[in-house]
Amino acid sequence: MRKPIIVLGATGSIGTQCLDILQFSLEYELIGVSLNSRFENLEPYLFYFDSLKYVAISNKEAAEKFKKLHPSYVVFTGEDSSLALIKECNKADVFNALIGNCGLRPTLLAMRQNQDIMLSNKESLVIGSSLIKEEAKTSKSHLYPVDSEHVALAKLIKEASERHVDEKNILKYIVTASGGALRDVKKEDLTQVTPEQVLHHPTWAMGSKITCDSATLVNKGYEVIEASVLFDVPLDKVGAVICRESLVHAQLRYLEDGKEVLLQEYSPVSMKVPIAYALSKGELGMHKDNQEDLANIQKLHFADIDYDFYPAFMYTIKTFEKFGNVGMIYYNAVDTLAIDHFLHHKISYLQLIEALGYTYTHLHDLPVLREEHLQDIIKAAEDYAREVIALIEQ
Ligand SMILES: NC(=O)c1ccc[n+]([C@@H]2O[C@H](COP(=O)([O-])OP(=O)(O)OC[C@H]3O[C@@H](n4cnc5c(N)ncnc54)[C@H](OP(=O)(O)O)[C@@H]3O)[C@@H](O)[C@H]2O)c1
Repeated sequence: MRKPIIVLGATGSIGTQCLDILQFSLEYELIGVSLNSRFENLEPYLFYFDSLKYVAISNKEAAEKFKKLHPSYVVFTGEDSSLALIKECNKADVFNALIGNCGLRPTLLAMRQNQDIMLSNKESLVIGSSLIKEEAKTSKSHLYPVDSEHVALAKLIKEASERHVDEKNILKYIVTASGGALRDVKKEDLTQVTPEQVLHHPTWAMGSKITCDSATLVNKGYEVIEASVLFDVPLDKVGAVICRESLVHAQLRYLEDGKEVLLQEYSPVSMKVPIAYALSKGELGMHKDNQEDLANIQKLHFADIDYDFYPAFMYTIKTFEKFGNVGMIYYNAVDTLAIDHFLHHKISYLQLIEALGYTYTHLHDLPVLREEHLQDIIKAAEDYAREVIALIEQ
């Protein structure tokens, strides 16, 4: 019998790629999905999933439209509809591809119900690591990363363990960055950068928020934090380096017989590789290099991160170090709103960076993170974000 699974954020960039894979899965049967409003992205898949029964749609207007068009589904509606779906499907595995702060409560609920989770929603780890670690003390659920860099690190750690490398001999866990859409722009030309330029990612096709976060390297800051939480290693043991081709996704530096060894994971530029690895719960092996891959490996270009060009990379990590999860709720709220304003031509690229720098230097007196206060903290952070953007716009 196939294992039931639900996909949260099924209509997004990661969610639809997950559905593409699940269509052919012999292990899983899809029984539920959640989304905000874009149900038209789900419609092409309905035909393929006979087992799909539950659809959670946060936006009430969209939910009403969907119900009229597709009366055979059980539809949950409203802000907490993903939670209602998880409660209903409490024996299913959960693939969380939601975007933003709204992904954390579903992750915590699935953990509480001992469900296995494939976690693409990086915000869960960045804004909620303390709650997740607390929940993990009693939960039987396993958490499988979906981000390509963390999947690559998981493979490398497994490989190192098979080579009998002692964990204390691992010197650095390194995630790679492409450098984003602006990597070849001169610093003095950053004043002129347009949203269209920023959305033109050199190697990956992704949702617009993460594509902007790749240009600023905020995304890479998040990934450093994620790696530290997922693999339970100190932040200063995690680093980032640019690989322009995005073909190496992570590296591990370790000591063997007194010598430093660099192990790296190479695989094609496709999110389907890490999604499939997460769905296999780590059973798939490393990518097997073919002749073309070996030729590509000879032509890879690596570079250190220029903190002067990418100041938001450090703002992100330092905000987490200084203010922890609540600081990141505020920081991500500012980042989300600033990106929205930038994409709508209301602020410039440098004002977006300024908003993040302002947040890092001005945050203070933040509350302690408790799950029962999470919604209030998120709302306060959204208010704060509006204040910061108004100030930057002046
Ligand atoms: N895209 C990538 O290649 C990539 C790579 C690595 C990691 N990630 C991470 O994966 C996560 C998803 O990214 P993405 O690029 O796939 O995002 P996306 O394309 O914007 O999709 C987000 C999904 O979440 C849903 N959603 C948003 N707000 C919601 C709400 N309040 N209630 C219920 N559903 C809601 C959206 O529904 P609608 O479609 O109705 O708006 C959509 O299904 C993010 O954390 C991102 O950082 C993405």
